[in-house]
Amino acid sequence: MKIGIDQIAFATSDKYLDLTELAHARDTDPNKFLIGIGQSEQAVITKTQNIVTLGASAAAQIINDSNRDMIDMILVATESGIDNSKSAAVYIQKLLKLNRYARTLELKQACYAGTAGLMFARDFVASHPEKQVLVIAADVARYGINTPGEVTQGGGAVAMLVKANPQVISFNDDNVYMSDDVMDFWRPIYRSEALVDGHFSANIYQDFFKELWDRYRSTTGHAINDFKAFAFHLPFTKMGLKGLREILPEATEDQQAALLAEFEASRVYNRRVGNLYTGSLYLSLISLLANGSVQAGDRIGLFSYGSGAEGEFYSATVEANFKHGLQTDFNALFAKRTQVSVAEYEEIFADKAPNDGQNVMFDLTNDPNRFVLAGIQDEKHVYKQQ
Ligand code: CAA
Repeated sequence: MKIGIDQIAFATSDKYLDLTELAHARDTDPNKFLIGIGQSEQAVITKTQNIVTLGASAAAQIINDSNRDMIDMILVATESGIDNSKSAAVYIQKLLKLNRYARTLELKQACYAGTAGLMFARDFVASHPEKQVLVIAADVARYGINTPGEVTQGGGAVAMLVKANPQVISFNDDNVYMSDDVMDFWRPIYRSEALVDGHFSANIYQDFFKELWDRYRSTTGHAINDFKAFAFHLPFTKMGLKGLREILPEATEDQQAALLAEFEASRVYNRRVGNLYTGSLYLSLISLLANGSVQAGDRIGLFSYGSGAEGEFYSATVEANFKHGLQTDFNALFAKRTQVSVAEYEEIFADKAPNDGQNVMFDLTNDPNRFVLAGIQDEKHVYKQQ
């Protein structure tokens, strides 16, 4: 039985920052950001948006009356959770009027947990073939104003429906994975901005990829020429290129050019959104499927990395109707966003939802988002659909 992603959708903030403008404001050559880092724009997340609203906006695109009651489990992968106890999946279940008789859970291991969610979903569907699982990978990436990580901020959510006989990709059940206690990136419970040892984290990412690729080859017998394309976790898009370059020498010259062309396709959307931690690999997968030349039957490789650290490499086969399962209209999404200046971005960055217990209701007059955090009352988040 084939099991995999049947539908996939993406949501991000209605605002973005142009990184050439950020480069000028930070007295940096714009090419460092555009080429050296590989990012052009960055999602700017306002205080009415968080993993719950972004996750609901992504999932709303794949929920309809025919599948609403078939979803048996809702898994939200995130490292920017809004409650230390209650799962974001419960809020999203309510906002989208999902099945009451469903399991709801939040998963955490830095940027890796979306992949864990997909694999838990796969195993669940394998033993319950008629059931479907909604997996949401949602995050807001924050490092701080004028930090080295600032150019790699961003945010958004990818929602994926996992079921038997999927239309987008089927998993090949050939996963290799590893974990190790590494302090490359972390966020203590009292902080809203991540701490990171930037260059070290990039080195660990590359080391994990290389080690897992070697392990994959030796355990499965597959080689690079079995692959049409690779999709990488993209904390910034140059990072995936560094990963791909680790294994390119194993390919012929023609295949190297083809893999690099597919890689360009896989970073089109990430370039304009920035890091969305758990969702970044899966935004890159959408970008590859929408903009690349992959076809039904092609094998693609997916590398998931979460600092701390955990990595997983697996392959999937592209299904015949894959374009029908891509639910987001990216032209419309990007056209609807409003550009903010560096000064406006800095103001929005500082204007966080309070975390000290005070009661507050936000002014939603000009807020175009369908799902919003409307305020906080009695230490409870108040979410609305507008
Ligand atoms: N034109 C073109 N390229 C230029 C340039 C110019 N004018 N100036 C510099 N560059 C290039 C540099 O040569 C360098 O390229 P290489 O990496 O290929 O050598 C690149 O731009 C970046 O330059 P620096 O290394 O000097 O940049 P930096 O020290 O300011 O920091 C960073 C870069 C470490 C990635 C930093 O942005 C950071 O800490 N980011 C957050 C951490 C991160 O994303 N880590 C990734 C792995 S961890 C992970 O994957 C989990 C996760 O999501 C966080």
